[in-house]
Amino acid sequence: MATTILNVSNRLPVTVGEKITKSSGGLVAALEGVAADHYALHWIGWPGAEIPPARREHVERELVHDYGCTPVFLSREETRGFYEGFSNSSIWPLLHSMPSYVRYESRWWDAYRDVNRKFADVVLSIAKPDDLVWVHDYQLMLLPRMLTEAMPSLRVGFFLHTPFPSYDIFRRHPCRSELVSGMLGADIVGFHTYSYMQHFRSVALRLLGYESEITRINHEGRSTLTGVYPIGINAQRFADELKRPEFASRRREFAANDQGKQIVLSVERMDYTKGILHRLDAIELFLNSAADRDRVKFIFISVPSREGVEDYKALREEVEARVGHINGRFATLAGSPIRFYHGSVNFTDLCALYSSSHVGLITPLTDGMNLVAKEYVAAQSDDPGVLVLSEFAGAAEELFNAVLVNPYDAQAVADAIEQALKMPADERRARIEPMRRRVMRHDARYWASSFINDLQSHRQPTEEKDGAAEARRIIAEAIASEKRIALFLDYDGTLRELERDPDAARPSSAIRALLDSLSRRPNVDLTIISGRRAEQMQAWFGDCPFGLIAEHGASERRPGPAQQWEQLDRNLSYAWKDDVLKALRAYEDSTPGTFVENKRTSLVWHYRRADPEFGKWKADTLVSELMALLANEPLVIRHGKKIVEVTAADVNKGAAVRRIIGGENYDLVVCAGDDQTDESMFRLDVPGLLTIKVGEGNTQARYRVPTPAAFRKLLNEALAGASDAGSSTRHPDAATAH
Ligand code: UDP
Ligand code: G6P
Repeated sequence: MATTILNVSNRLPVTVGEKITKSSGGLVAALEGVAADHYALHWIGWPGAEIPPARREHVERELVHDYGCTPVFLSREETRGFYEGFSNSSIWPLLHSMPSYVRYESRWWDAYRDVNRKFADVVLSIAKPDDLVWVHDYQLMLLPRMLTEAMPSLRVGFFLHTPFPSYDIFRRHPCRSELVSGMLGADIVGFHTYSYMQHFRSVALRLLGYESEITRINHEGRSTLTGVYPIGINAQRFADELKRPEFASRRREFAANDQGKQIVLSVERMDYTKGILHRLDAIELFLNSAADRDRVKFIFISVPSREGVEDYKALREEVEARVGHINGRFATLAGSPIRFYHGSVNFTDLCALYSSSHVGLITPLTDGMNLVAKEYVAAQSDDPGVLVLSEFAGAAEELFNAVLVNPYDAQAVADAIEQALKMPADERRARIEPMRRRVMRHDARYWASSFINDLQSHRQPTEEKDGAAEARRIIAEAIASEKRIALFLDYDGTLRELERDPDAARPSSAIRALLDSLSRRPNVDLTIISGRRAEQMQAWFGDCPFGLIAEHGASERRPGPAQQWEQLDRNLSYAWKDDVLKALRAYEDSTPGTFVENKRTSLVWHYRRADPEFGKWKADTLVSELMALLANEPLVIRHGKKIVEVTAADVNKGAAVRRIIGGENYDLVVCAGDDQTDESMFRLDVPGLLTIKVGEGNTQARYRVPTPAAFRKLLNEALAGASDAGSSTRHPDAATAH
């Protein structure tokens, strides 16, 4: 059976008026093309207007049966908060790096969350566990997480059709963390350009602390792939249209209208991101110095957009006033320079306009892609026009043979208009042809199939690798069969999630209960083995019956609250500390957010609060410096999780474990940890060793679980399994461990 793609976007590809009519945008064509062979396609979205409750059932039936669409009906109140409010007055300007347009009202946020939830309910009412769900754009940023939380087996892709701004811009939004976290619910998040993807990674790292590789963000045991998928146009539709006689006749009519003039065409929604006012500045400069103003006609196709939003209304008024002013100032007896059309044009007319104009002038201040630029290129043939394109449109990355301009530089845009109008035919052809080939090949269908193929083949690391089940079984069986077991459990990042502030990582009651259950087992000797100071361990676990090892093995408290702490490093010299301290202090001074911790047996430079990339870079240079400085000392330099630590070579967790188990005869020795300092335990050569790494990263441990929560679950289940096995099986097989 064909896999189903549930395609979720704010707008359905239909217009619901008196009758329902299908629209034929790029996304529709792209998905139909991909779906035809391998997938069944179903759309979910808002029908674009308020449908009275009495009509809803009928509309829904017709949409589902005749158009393969399921509607999400929204009341006028809901669209006010969700669409006009949060989506288009708050995050649209934020994503376009225009913070001065960002408005925020907490009731918009409530509406946005509620409407995303409404979309989730509709998707979940249709979805089957193996379906692919493709969520589109900024109106639905919370939806991916809602879906994967409710149905983890769904494969969910998210594509952002707008830019993604830098951390410095994005962090201003009151709901910044929720928005990013919502997107990260997806298995794949796609962007038009590498720089948008980079910004997103940087935000995930800085806001939520998630580490990433170039195209992967790891978070809470899941991984989200990120990718660059520049959207294309419905190329076939343009190729077909250019052959139609209706197109040829409209083209002739447009050319005849403005005979003897060169046409400069701009097409866009009436939106402040499109740079219309800046373009009018450039046109004014151009006209000011033009020798023959009647030679050129500027045509503006300005598609009405989001007129319920105050800033859009204000923009329209300002644009119309400016156009009136320029037309008044530069009119001649032969006419005025700008023809401004506020409305939509049909597809044939759009192609005829693209094709008959001498210059396509597309100068957004910022734009996710800008399909108009690609469409302009696709509509050119033997005697092509010139594309003048803003550097700040995503399309500029692919259309680099255009005349690229900075839309904020009015004089440069005026000069580019002049250059384009004078460009000889062979140069026009030489520029357009490579762009046209690319636009026709990398079309919308190519875009959609690349994204869907990647989504189809992406696999989450399962909650636990198979090996973890084996580790759990071995531990459970050993507990049940009353074998002698030693457990050495690291604390931070292993039993307990890491915190930015180490003091905040106190043991929860669930952790205490788990440790209590483990230490009650007569055949289990439990030791918590940590890099923390003895005083801290004493404060948290002093009254517990299990053993404690602090400072990576430098001090130890044997099991039992009455036991005293013992220093195990009495014979070591710490003369090296002065020089190392000086080096670390220099890094503390030059790296904001970092600090030095002076432990008895080691010195640690912490950079958890520094900028993550700067901190990591400084840490790498510090490690090289220390290696040179300490080459002949019996010291170990460790680059652990957000720390660089220098400690005596003889003090490490592995040595501490070896010493404790030295005289005993254990059947099973379990060592679990999450960072570099735990590897010395994993490398031990002792009988019955079972090693577990918690989290990502290279390790010599045999087993791995993704998170502290998964590790606690493993231990709890091992305990539960041991109880079951203990009651039903008196003589289970001996545990084997590696
Ligand atoms: N378009 C339209 N009606 C018109 C003129 C243009 O539907 O009267 C289409 C145009 O063909 C293009 C889309 O609107 O496909 C605009 O997409 P673009 O990526 O340029 O900008 P957006 O509106 O998405 O910001
Ligand atoms: C941009 C957005 C789309 C949106 C379109 C038209 O392309 O990325 O998500 O649908 O503009 O805007 P509208 O508000 O009319 O849906």
